[in-house]
Amino acid sequence: MTSKHRIAREVHIVRRPDGPLSADDFVVAEQPLADLAPGEFLIANRLLSIDPVRRVFFANGTAPLNAGLHSFAIGQVLESRHPDYAPGEIVGHYRGLRDLAIGRGEETRKIPVGEDPLEWHMGPLGVGGFFAYVGLIEAARVRPGESVLVSSAAGSVGSLAAQLARLIGCRVVATVGSPDKQAWLTDVAGVERVIDYKRGDWRERLAAALPDGLDVYFDNVGGAQLDAALSLINPHGRVAVCGMVSTYDSVAPFSERAGAWTWRMMTSQVELKSYHVRDHQRLWPAFQRSVGDWLRSGAIRTETQVLDSLEAVPQAFVDLIAGKGLGKTVVRLS
Ligand SMILES: NC(=O)c1ccc[n+]([C@@H]2O[C@H](COP(=O)([O-])OP(=O)(O)OC[C@H]3O[C@@H](n4cnc5c(N)ncnc54)[C@H](OP(=O)(O)O)[C@@H]3O)[C@@H](O)[C@H]2O)c1
Repeated sequence: MTSKHRIAREVHIVRRPDGPLSADDFVVAEQPLADLAPGEFLIANRLLSIDPVRRVFFANGTAPLNAGLHSFAIGQVLESRHPDYAPGEIVGHYRGLRDLAIGRGEETRKIPVGEDPLEWHMGPLGVGGFFAYVGLIEAARVRPGESVLVSSAAGSVGSLAAQLARLIGCRVVATVGSPDKQAWLTDVAGVERVIDYKRGDWRERLAAALPDGLDVYFDNVGGAQLDAALSLINPHGRVAVCGMVSTYDSVAPFSERAGAWTWRMMTSQVELKSYHVRDHQRLWPAFQRSVGDWLRSGAIRTETQVLDSLEAVPQAFVDLIAGKGLGKTVVRLS
């Protein structure tokens, strides 16, 4: 069968959320596929990535209404008119949130099929894992013996950042939003100092966990936790700005969401460094080697929440932003 006889099922957003995201903001729709043009290939998606940053795109207009949404996905090439992609190959790409996708080779990575679980390439060996690696190594230039704070530390990016900092020899403090996540980090991931920021006295406990101040803050959340981290940061400290998930579902005007401690950055000559992995691709082989070895040896532990249908995607976004997931959330289609 050629691709023109196929119908893809894809997730659409049907209205812009102006309050907390709701599963009713989405539908699953059918889309007939055109025949493959030269340079195109048909992919059957196997794993779809659920990422909190999509919430920003749903609201700000980057994600189109009533059209297929994009997200990272891993799938298998079914048919190909592209010289570099053969049927059977496993590829990672950004035309996700649908069961069948047409690839053209841009922003596409071949995934090595070996003994490793495919889910690792959505999390610790994937783009989110690379953000953790680049943020610590390149943006924050973390060194053994330094104190490192990681927020959303039971999430996909944060759990790798916290464990990498521990393996580098840092004194790691982590924040999470539930006792279950706290228990996973201490009991499974080997991160000893974990603070639940939803308990009232979290700022005092954070200060107590960092008696010599903070050298590096790996920031996944922005907002009040960024403020608290800056209140404790040492001279010449560094903040790797990976994301600001505390603001993604906020209805407050953007200008009112920032922290109040930035004056300390100036007086203490702190570097707050935003970064994007696209400018650090030369680190990809070293990242795959070291994180892959640590995963296989069990030195780094990882958690994946697996859902099983496109219909589960809307609630998966709502639950991820609400803090219900541990580790990486993916949808497995086959
Ligand atoms: N995944 C990627 O490929 C990628 C790439 C680039 C950048 N990033 C950024 O990296 C950060 C982490 O991404 P991730 O994919 O690993 O997702 P994640 O950390 O699992 O994001 C969901 C978590 O965010 C936390 N959260 C939600 N609302 C919050 C609030 N108001 N205050 C504080 N924390 C809140 C919750 O954890 P708690 O229960 O602990 O609050 C929730 O479980 C995000 O800012 C994201 O934009 C991700």
